Amino acid sequence: MLDCHFSRVSNVTKSDPEVLISERKIRARVRTLAERISADYKDSDELVLVGVLKGSFIFLADLSRELTIPRVIEFIAVSSYGDSSHSSGAVRLVMDVRGNIEGKHVLIVEDIVDTGHTLQYLIGMLDSHGPRSVKTCALVRKAERAEVDVEVDYLGFDIPDKWVVGYGLDYAEQNRTLPYIGVIAPDD
Ligand code: PRP
Repeated sequence: MLDCHFSRVSNVTKSDPEVLISERKIRARVRTLAERISADYKDSDELVLVGVLKGSFIFLADLSRELTIPRVIEFIAVSSYGDSSHSSGAVRLVMDVRGNIEGKHVLIVEDIVDTGHTLQYLIGMLDSHGPRSVKTCALVRKAERAEVDVEVDYLGFDIPDKWVVGYGLDYAEQNRTLPYIGVIAPDD
């Protein structure tokens, strides 16, 4: 989470982000994930995709359109507690899903898993709604930064511990709409 790493957000970057994962690679991986998910849920009535705002919005849009199974879209929003330089790991629910997910298959869709606290919280929170199952999907994961052991059932890419932007990911709300995932070096 942004607040965990940087206390100042004035100068974002002096140049274009360096490409870490190209648009072509993302597209191919999203299609592969969608094929796997479609196969795994082919016998279910409906899959509820729960996008975690804001970062997942582009990934969710592309992934959901590649699926070949019945699906509906929900969104959820959270924020983390902690001061500007250190996260306590505690997560607070800002907006819950609107629909009733009781008895449904649920897939949480995240842009990034960093420490894992958000995903761990969301699994528990959504589980309390009585769904038939809860699984997880994330485009990228920083394994080096993991603080909790949380399973990602459908993972796009493992990435190094760099600040990444694009394809939904931001730095100080900038660069979310880049078509690729890039690396920036925020100024001190
Ligand atoms: C990002 C991401 C996850 C969370 C992961 O959200 O979308 O929800 O951080 O971090 P964690 O694994 O350390 O818990 P962010 O707070 O950047 O908000 P945003 O999606 O609105 O940009």
